[in-house]
Order: sequence, then structure tokens, then C-alpha cells
Amino acid sequence: MGTVISIVSGKGGVGKTTLCANLAFALALEGRSVIALDGDLGLRNLDILLGLESKAPFDLIDVLEDRCPVSKAIAVHDTLPNLHMIPGSEDYTASVDKRAMRRLCRWLADHYEYVLIDAPAGVGEGFRNAVFSAQRCIVVSTPDLTSVRDAGRTASIITGMCSIPTELVINKVRKQMMKKGYMRNVDQVMDSVSLPLLGLVPHDDEVVISANRGGILPQEKSHTAAAFKNIAARLEGEDIPLAAFWRK
Ligand SMILES: Nc1ncnc2c1ncn2[C@@H]1O[C@H](COP(=O)(O)OP(=O)(O)OP(=O)(O)O)[C@@H](O)[C@H]1O
Ligand SMILES: [Mg+2]
Repeated sequence: MGTVISIVSGKGGVGKTTLCANLAFALALEGRSVIALDGDLGLRNLDILLGLESKAPFDLIDVLEDRCPVSKAIAVHDTLPNLHMIPGSEDYTASVDKRAMRRLCRWLADHYEYVLIDAPAGVGEGFRNAVFSAQRCIVVSTPDLTSVRDAGRTASIITGMCSIPTELVINKVRKQMMKKGYMRNVDQVMDSVSLPLLGLVPHDDEVVISANRGGILPQEKSHTAAAFKNIAARLEGEDIPLAAFWRK
């Protein structure tokens, strides 16, 4: 039986889709069977980050509304056959049946070790459906004050909805700016959000470049790729200390 993990944030643009794609890739590299779902219905982009644009003839809404079997909405990664994705719909504005979504996720968890849901920004219906379907949540925040405040609010909404393990990933970390006190440091972010830390991801232009190329971050000699791998290892229960990169 696999685990359904929703990746949420509150504030938009903090890196949910980036984390979902790179975490799915890192887990699949370790041999895990992974399926990533684009829960950002109407504004999908997980398919681009995984290099799987237009690779599935149907989408999540088609599955939820019984227009096709699940298999028709699954795209398989080019180099990692154990990494699958179900795209979001391009133009969906109606409501999703949250129980159908949860049923689908639990069914997928019988077939995959990890089911990752890339949630939309905000704390509206899409976010709530993602939390309702999840067995674990990752809240993504940048060190920016606005993002930190939204992440704290998001964390308390999750706690009010259910009691599932919820952890924090701080993305777009600029070590030097933190050291100079120009942005919140890691302890300050953790105190404000009140969640245990699952990982730190550096601010890295390579993330933007690879996203614009339509694919995963190159793995070689990348602190950022290593950060995603460490997050994957911690999800697997490994006790991975913060990398030397962060301690210097
Ligand atoms: N660690 C990083 N370093 C630099 N840029 C990053 C990093 N993570 C994400 N980005 C960039 O930030 C932008 C937003 O990222 P992404 O789409 O993953 O955020 P999101 O939270 O999913 O956004 P939305 O709320 O709109 O769904 C993208 O241009 C992405 O390439
Ligand atoms: Mg997104």
C-alpha cells in the first residue's frame, strides 16, 4: 500500500509544481513506483516540468467524470518507466467530486508506492480536495514573509481538517541573504509555520532553465538536485542530516 502525499502552499509561485516533479523523479530514480497527479485543474503545468506534455490522451477530470479508464490518462516518463503522471485539465472551472478524487487516490496507492498531488495555490476547493485525498502533506514556503505567513495559515487549516503528518519544505533559499538578515532564516521560518522541516532547496537559476526547457533539473553536480534527493530519502524514513552545503 503506497502513500498519497499532497504538496500545498497557500501562496502561489513558491515551487509546489517544481517540488512535485523533482521529488517524483528523485523517488523514481531510487526505484520507487511513483505517480504524480496535477491537482491544479484548469492551470496545469506538471506535465511540462516532467517533460510529458501532450503524452496522455485524457486527463484527471476525464477519469473523475468516468469518460475513460485511468490507464488512458497516464503518461509514462521517457527514461524512468516507473514514473507516471496524470495531467490536469486545461480549461476546467467546475467543481470536482472530492470523494471521487479521494477514491481514485486511494486506488492508485494500491498500485504505486507514492501518489503525489500537485495542489493549486490558495486554500480554496482544489487545495481542500488535495488535503482530503492525502495521507501526508508537504507545505512549501519560500523564506519571504508573505509566503511564510500563508504557509502558517495553510498549516493550521490542514490541522483543522485532519490529523495527517504535515511537514515543511523551504524553497528558493538564498543562504547569503539569510546570513545578512535580508530574509527570514530557517529557524524563523520554522517557528512561524510551526511544522517540522523536511528539507531545504536552494534558489537556483537552473531550476528555471530546466523548467523552460520542459524537463527535470540536470542531476550532475547539482546541490539542488541533491536537495530533492535528500527530501525523497527523508520521505523514505532515512535520517539524512542537512547537507554540508547548508552548514558552511
Ligand atoms: N528553487 C528554485 N530556484 C529558482 N527558481 C525556482 C525554484 N523553485 C521554483 N522556481 C521557479 O519559480 C516559479 C514558480 O514555480 P512553480 O510553478 O513550481 O510554483 P507553484 O507553487 O507550483 O506555482 P503555482 O502556485 O502557480 O502553481 C517557476 O518559474 C520556477 O521555475
Ligand atoms: Mg503549480
